[in-house]
Amino acid sequence: MANTASDSGHWQTVCQQNELQPDQPLEFRIQRPAAEPGGMPLTGFLLLHDGQPQAYVNQCPHLGIELNWMPGKFMDADNLFIQCSTHGALFKPGTGECITGPCQGDALTALDLRIEGGAIQIRLPE
Ligand code: FES
Repeated sequence: MANTASDSGHWQTVCQQNELQPDQPLEFRIQRPAAEPGGMPLTGFLLLHDGQPQAYVNQCPHLGIELNWMPGKFMDADNLFIQCSTHGALFKPGTGECITGPCQGDALTALDLRIEGGAIQIRLPE
């Protein structure tokens, strides 16, 4: 769900609202210059769930590694759940909650997002 409750923090424009299509999650680099180049670049992804954009950090709570092997491929074969490509954990797209797999009961890290002038922006994690 879009969060417009607060404008504090730093925001990153990810894409235009009309670029995000159903069943086509969009992967992006989270711009955290202070965190690079020492660490691995942090990525996130956007998806539409019931017509609402959702954003998550691209990190499986099981091992802390990226969920996908293929660019933009985050969903299971039925396009119902986000799926980790390493051990197959499934996550609800609306909440990020893991419903089955080694991290069952844990959840993806959601990113706050907002729509500004037709662009989808995410709040940079601290
Ligand atoms: S790393 Fe994602 S389920 Fe194991």
